[in-house]
Formats: sequence, structure tokens, C-alpha cells
Amino acid sequence: MTRTFYIETWGCQMNDLDSQRLAGSLKLRGYRRVDDESQANLILLNTCSIRDKAEHKVFSRLGALRELKRRNDVQIGVCGCVAQQEGETILERAPWVDFVMGPGNVGYIEDVLSGRTRVATNFPEDRRYDFLSVDRPSATKALITIIEGCNKNCTFCIVPTTRGREISRPFHDVLAEVRAAVESGRSEIELLGQTVNAYICPTSGRDFGTLLSAVADIHGVARLRFMTSHPAVVNDNMIAAMRDHSNISRYLHLPVQSGSSRVLRRMKRLYTREKYLEIIDRIRTAIPEIHFSTDVIVGFPGESENDFLETLDLIEQIRYGSLFAFKYSPRPGTPSLKIGPPVQEAIADERLSRLFALHERIKRERLESYRGRVLPVLVEGPSRHDPSMLSGRTDDNWVVNFVGDLATPLGSMLGVRIDQAQHHTLRGEAM
Ligand code: 5AD
Repeated sequence: MTRTFYIETWGCQMNDLDSQRLAGSLKLRGYRRVDDESQANLILLNTCSIRDKAEHKVFSRLGALRELKRRNDVQIGVCGCVAQQEGETILERAPWVDFVMGPGNVGYIEDVLSGRTRVATNFPEDRRYDFLSVDRPSATKALITIIEGCNKNCTFCIVPTTRGREISRPFHDVLAEVRAAVESGRSEIELLGQTVNAYICPTSGRDFGTLLSAVADIHGVARLRFMTSHPAVVNDNMIAAMRDHSNISRYLHLPVQSGSSRVLRRMKRLYTREKYLEIIDRIRTAIPEIHFSTDVIVGFPGESENDFLETLDLIEQIRYGSLFAFKYSPRPGTPSLKIGPPVQEAIADERLSRLFALHERIKRERLESYRGRVLPVLVEGPSRHDPSMLSGRTDDNWVVNFVGDLATPLGSMLGVRIDQAQHHTLRGEAM
């Protein structure tokens, strides 16, 4: 009988892609995917440990799976960053788990499936990218890793522990994967890396800007995006590539974390408030209508009301289109634990809601500014909320739901007149 698998994914795009890679290699081994965990012979939880909450979820999920394990012939595997961080401890706390496998080991699933290894959390020197076996859920879009791991040591962050040191893939490997993705109909490419712009080809030394240009020049790449850039590594070559290629999305996610130089120093972010503003200025001068988005942490140890006001002021100055903000969450083994206790919960909550209120207003103004304009939209498929409409994205990465011909081929580019701004999205009609 065919063996079946069920996979659950938390966290970032890296994890999404790891799940696509896992699904692909399981299918090659003859497994069939099921959407109901009680029908599965293999259950994989692909976990996230960026904040405490995400980590807790894993253990409560495992608790719920215990009963299932008693009844069914099922292997349970914990993958992803909690697996890397907790390793053996997971087997101690939840002995019904069959194996634990970190993100560096995704290319070696055979080791854990066969029972040869129960805890696979080393970082194999040769991180395998068997890209032809990735099971891509989208017909129009491909996620493509160009660099794994992170060499920055931000004091709050668990990623260096869970994803290891930076390793870039060879330039031509990346281009080959992009070409294969385009040939399979994916005209939208998203390059991934924890610090994507730190990319440097291990054999030729080509940098991120050079890679961006080369990918953008590949015939059939209708849109190119990338995630996540570190402000301290932004350089002119990267900015020029974005400026000179109309198929590179005019969107940049540039996490600032705080608007206070004092807090930034304690976070070891490697830039000051002034330096960050200068980078933003340089990019805006080259690409005036760019959509900036960012991540902010509130309540970092020692963050004063004044520090926080500096963050609000910076948000107001930059007018980010999108913003993701989180309460500081102490992570095991990170240097920030020694800086001091987090800001009191009630104060952090209150800061978070002030920040969101400010950003809501800025975002609304930005979305309203598109009303009446005709924008090129890359069609991704029917709208999730209303299947009688189509959905796609503008080249500055706003989702547009619009009235149009449902027979439009996916991946084509249409002019859409925007007639309404919604909460996070735009609404319009194909011209
Ligand atoms: N606590 C809260 N937020 C965090 N992030 C990373 N580590 C932590 C932490 N310990 C946030 C940062 C990062 C985003 C992916 O998650 O803002 O950019």
C-alpha cells in the first residue's frame, strides 16, 4: 500500500521551502500527501522557534498527536528550528516522537525515515539542493534559496543557532534552478536567505547585486523578489540592479528593529538610526516609488519610552507600506539574556498597540494613493475570499483583487484600474 504523509509548517519562507523540499523528496519515494493527519503514515511538524509562542505550539501539537500514535501506524518527525534548538530534549519530553531533524538536514531525509538516525541536527558540510524534486504548490511562483544561515549575531536572535553559519550557493546553481522554475511555468521568482543580500558566490565571488541582475535577465522571469535584506549589507550594486530592471519588484523588506541608536547598539544591528535613514534615502533616490516594509521589536531589554518614541518617529519619517512588529521574546542562549529583563509586559503591549495604530494610518494613506491609477498586475489565480474575482500583485508587492476574465492564464500581466483600498489590499477591475 502507498505510504502517506502529512506536513504542517510554521514560520518563515525558508520553512515553507523546506516543507516543499521535504514533500518533493517524499513523493519521489512513493509517498502520497494527505490533508488529514489521521490518514497519514508519516507526520512532519516543520517548526519555528523565532519567538517563545511559536515554540510552545509545537509541544501542544505533540501532546495532541500522542493519542494518534497509539492507534495508528504512524511515524512522527519534528523538523525545523525547534528541532535544531531542542534536539534530543524533544525525544525526552515527547518519547512518542520518532525523529528530530534540523533545517540543515532536509536534503538527507532518508537517514531519519530509515530509523538510522533519531536526532539529525548536525549541519552536513554538503547541504544538498536537489531542486528538481521541490514540490512547488504555486503554479506561478517559485521560492529559491540562495544563501542559508546567518553570520550576523543580533543579540536577540536564535537563527544563528538554528540555521548555522552562512553558506551561499554557487552562482550557476542558482541560475540553473531559476531556469528550471521558469520552464515549469513559474514566472515569479523569490530568492531567499536569512540575510539574502549577504550572498557571495563561493567559487567566483560574485555578489548579490550581480546575481540579482543575472536572474532578472533570464528570459521568462516576469517578476523577481527577494527576502530578507540586512540594512548593513545594502550596497550600490544591489540598488543599481533594482533600479535598472523593471522586472525586479520595487519592494524592499528592510528590518529596522528599533529607531533608537542606543537600542540598535545593544541589539548589535551594525547600524545607527542615522545610517539606516541614509540607506533608505539612497534607495529612494534611485527608486522613488519603492515600497519599504520592516520588522520592529518592542520591549527589548532596557528600551525606554524615549527609545520607543524614536522608533515611532522613524516609522513616521520612512512611511513604511508594511510593518511587522513583535514583542521581544527571550530566546535560549542568546546574548540579550545578559542585557537585562524584557520591558514589563503591560508596557510592551501598550507600545505595540501605539505602534500599530500609527502604522495603520500610514498604510491607509498609502493604499488610498493608488485609487484611480492603472497598475500592472501579475495574475496569480482566483481571489481567496471571492473566487469570482482574480488576485495578483503589483510590482511594488501589493495584493490586488480584481474583476477580470477568469480564463486569464496564470502568470500573465494585466493593467488593473484600482478603485478601492481595503485593509491590506487593493481592489480594482482589469482594463
Ligand atoms: N523576539 C521578538 N522578535 C524577534 N524577532 C527575531 N528574534 C526575536 C525575538 N527574540 C523578529 C525580528 C525579525 C523577525 C523575523 O522576527 O523582528 O526581523
